[in-house]
Amino acid sequence: MIITTTITQVQAQLSLARKKNKTIGFVPTMGALHEGHLSLLRRAKKENKICVLSIFVNPTQFGPTEDFTKYPREKKNDVLLAKKENIDIIFYPSEKLMYPPGYLTTVEIKNLSDVLCGRFRPGHFTGVATVVAKLLNILRPDTMYLGQKDAQQCVILKRLVQDLNFATKVFLCPTIREPDGLAMSSRNKYLSIAERKEASVLYRSLCLARDEIQHGIRNATRIRYLIEQNIRTLSHGKIDYVASVDAENLMPLNEIKGNVLLMVAARWGQTRLIDNIRITLK
Ligand code: PAF
Repeated sequence: MIITTTITQVQAQLSLARKKNKTIGFVPTMGALHEGHLSLLRRAKKENKICVLSIFVNPTQFGPTEDFTKYPREKKNDVLLAKKENIDIIFYPSEKLMYPPGYLTTVEIKNLSDVLCGRFRPGHFTGVATVVAKLLNILRPDTMYLGQKDAQQCVILKRLVQDLNFATKVFLCPTIREPDGLAMSSRNKYLSIAERKEASVLYRSLCLARDEIQHGIRNATRIRYLIEQNIRTLSHGKIDYVASVDAENLMPLNEIKGNVLLMVAARWGQTRLIDNIRITLK
């Protein structure tokens, strides 16, 4: 496994691979790897000859009051885990390499970036789109693998790839969950024991809503109310939003039909958790 911190070195490795017609799978991360990341790496490894993992805690996607300095940095453990998964290359750039002095350019995906999580995290998705555009330009992978847990990020990055004509396919992979249903996230580490116990209420509420939909309920307001009530009754989580949107364009739905994302974001203390499930109705 090669760990590289320079663009020249990673590009040299990848151009060697390309010359040998080896396909390149790419998993962008901010490190603190967990089973969710590992599932993406396994799929990238299985479907490609070369698997590249990037680890970069991207400052531009954190708001001024968010957890950038506190965000877990676990290089040693990440390297061990990547080695275990037979990852070929870790790209580990510094902040100075990604945003050198004089850096001015951002990539803004209009409309999709200021709704849902974007309402509560202004600038977040511009930071995400910008860094991923840079990583795609640097690495030029055949396929990028993203976790469906970050549903809005998935829609935005698919739009980015399509709108800016990147020659990379985007594959979305299922959310990996703890035994009680809590979606795996690097931020789960911040939860106290009591908060951690409560946090699975997000997934349980989404499943309850899915059951109602399967029993024929199509009124989106009623479905959202059910999710909100369940979270409020069973936990101390403070809800940022509960939404029912079109899975392709994130437009709010009044009626549950087609490809639907039920999405939720809530906070326990300073810790903000998100979750979603996708439902397809004929
Ligand atoms: O999902 C993440 O970890 C980040 O938003 C990403 C895609 C690596 C960009 O920094």
